[in-house]
This record gives sequence, C-alpha cells and structure tokens, in this order.
Amino acid sequence: MQAILKPLIWLVLSLGMLASAPGGAVTITISCGAVGIELALCREGTEAWAKKSGHQVRVVSTPNSSSERLALYQQLLAAGANDIDVFQIDVIWPGLLANHLLDLEPYIAADTTDHYPAMIANNTVDGRLVAMPWFASVGVLYYRQDLLQKHGESVPVSWAELAGVAARVQAAERAAGHADLWGYVWQGRAYEGLTCNALEWVASEDGGTIVADDGQVTIDNPAAVQAVARAAAWVDNISPPGVLNYAEEDARGVFQSGGAVFMRNWPYAWSLAQGMDSPVRGQVGVAPLPGGSASGRSVSTLGGWQLAVSSYSRHPATAAELVRYLTSAAEQKRRAIAGSFNPTIPALYQDREILAAAPFFANLLTIMDTAVARPSAATGSKYNQASHAFWSAVHQVLSGKRTAAASLASLQARLDRLSRGGKRW
Ligand code: GLC
Repeated sequence: MQAILKPLIWLVLSLGMLASAPGGAVTITISCGAVGIELALCREGTEAWAKKSGHQVRVVSTPNSSSERLALYQQLLAAGANDIDVFQIDVIWPGLLANHLLDLEPYIAADTTDHYPAMIANNTVDGRLVAMPWFASVGVLYYRQDLLQKHGESVPVSWAELAGVAARVQAAERAAGHADLWGYVWQGRAYEGLTCNALEWVASEDGGTIVADDGQVTIDNPAAVQAVARAAAWVDNISPPGVLNYAEEDARGVFQSGGAVFMRNWPYAWSLAQGMDSPVRGQVGVAPLPGGSASGRSVSTLGGWQLAVSSYSRHPATAAELVRYLTSAAEQKRRAIAGSFNPTIPALYQDREILAAAPFFANLLTIMDTAVARPSAATGSKYNQASHAFWSAVHQVLSGKRTAAASLASLQARLDRLSRGGKRW
C-alpha cells in the first residue's frame, strides 16, 4: 500500500503550488473516486461549477479501494495538509474524520431537508454537519437474463438457490464450450468491500451486524458461522479462485465481458453494463440480493459517498459552495442518468427521466429502506480497526486457512479486547 500512497501524496502536495487564480477567483481541489465513470462525471460536474462561479477546480483521483483511500486521507489530514479542499468520503467515515472536517451547517443548512434524514444524521457528528450526502449505494444482484432463460432458470431468492442456479448454468454452458464461464462473482479481496459482502451474508441469516448498536460484539454465533462457511464453499466451485482478490471493478470486468452468470455489485455497474460497448448490453437484470435460508430476508449493505470540506482548506466558503452545487438535486439527477448513481434526495426516485435511464431504481427504495448499516456508529473512531479484523477473519475462511467457527471465535475475542467487552469503543 505504501508503494501506491507515496506517489499519490507527492502528486497531491505538488498540486498545492498551483492553487491561485486571477481576479479573486480561487482554485478548489477536490478528491474524487475513479471507479467506473466516476472520475469523468466528477470532472464534468466540477467544470460546470467552475464555469458558473468563475473559480477553478482541480480534480485529484484516488485509489479505487475504499480502504486505500482512507489510508491516504488519514495521512494527508493528520499532516494538516491544505492541498485538498473537498474530500469525497465513504458513508462509514464521518466519525473517523470529523475532527479534520468543517461544519457545513452555516453554508448549506437550507439544502439538508431535501435529503434522506438518516443520511444527514449519519453525517452529523457531535452536532456538526461534517459532510453532505452525494450518492447512496446498496448491494444488488446482477444476473444474465439470456442465460437464465436459455436454461429455464429463474432469479434466485435465497443463497442456496443462487448456488444451485449458478452451478447448473455454469456446468451446462461449459459443456457447450463456454469453458471460462463462472457462476458468481463478488468482492472477496481483503478490504472494506469484503466487509460489505460478508455483512450481507451474515445479516440475511439473522446473524447480526458484527457489533450491535449498543457496542456488544455479536459476531460469534451459529448463523454467522454458517453464512461465512457457505460463502467459502463457493470459491473454486461457482466463483473463480481469483475472487479472493476481487474488488468492485474486477467483478464488473468479468461480468461485463460475459464471464459470469451472477454478480454482486453496487448500482454504478448498471449504466456500464448497459453501455453501447458492453458485450452484455440488453441481457442484464438487477434484483435484490438473495435472502437467508431461515429468514428469507434479503439484506443489502448500505454504502455511499459524501462530500466534506477540510478544516485546513484556505477557501472554506468557496469549497462549501462547490459541495452545495455537486450535492444539489440537479447534479444528482445528471449523475443518476449518466452513471446510475443513487440520489440521496428521495424526490428524485419519482423522476421520470431517471427511472427511464435506470428502471430498477424504482425497486431500490425498498432495498434502501431495509439496508443494514455497517457498525460505524457503535465503533466510532475504531470502526476501521473493527472492519479490518472482520474482513481479515472472513478472508482466512474463504481462502481455506481456518474454519469459519475458529475464525469467528477468535474475531469475537479480538473485538472484545479492542472494546473492553463491547463497553468502550
Ligand atoms: C462502495 C460503497 C462504499 C463501500 C465500498 C466498499 O464504494 O459505496 O460505502 O465502503 O463500496 O468497497
């Protein structure tokens, strides 16, 4: 990771020298994600603002892995670097980064009522609005309509069904010469994305959310053990061995090139899979993730990204203006249509043009209502340590190094130690 971070930090710091412009105009630097077409959309949005406001914008792209991005941000912020004014931050970070972020309330207060109250609450730390919601995300199941139809299968509603359909279609297609087809691709690398996937397996079996709202560590339970063990059995069976190193874009690469029947991913993958140059264009369906075998309940992890202004910014008011513009209904609508990024403004889910571009958005409201949050509120400043311990424990099971029972038992002990028995996170 150091190897990636050093050049990025150098790039970011050297950009600081360019930050002035004529006539009272300033240059605002924003860090944007670069997953799929994120960076292109960020550039378009910020350029439109620059044109309108007379200021200038510099866009810095960041690593695709949320975990690597956090490490980069923490290094910059801990050094009090003023080179980035606006940070794109993950839904689980407001608590972790709050001390370095500006209270946006005085600049943006009026706009907050348009957004989901839960998202505004998520971004409010000790009464300070440290970020504005930019887009939301939930895990969904992508499937190949054409292949299910060809083999007389239907969209699976439980994890057990998913494994069955994936295995049958994979076997039939391979027998017919499609030798490298896999049943199911997802995010199995040891990083935050695996925390999201594994939380869905566990929570849909009523195995809890790793740490309960009151701080108690709950991960060592039979439902969780069974859910993680089941996922381990997918590897090298319906999922390629390489899934252990897949993040979002790796899974999308395989699925979009026609190499998988099912994929777990976030909504952004829709507009790309349906793109003019996509080999699976017109063949893709989106459904809720499969439900647990006992509960029947489908659970998605709530994801999403916010925009925050650094406390070290030299132009806080102008930076907040940019955040206000980018998080507005008009810009969220543009991003929903061009990139299937979920708005954080409920009214937009009734917008005809958005629904025409991404018809499955109509069903996302229900998925979002029942989505589970990662335990970032309960674990506070130790969230990343807790999540790191969780994804590592799960990864060991997926890679066959430990049994699910042994791995989750030692994870429980580790998290209990980290939080003094769940009492002090
Ligand atoms: C997506 C989600 C984000 C999550 C990440 C994990 O970007 O929006 O919340 O942490 O995936 O890979």
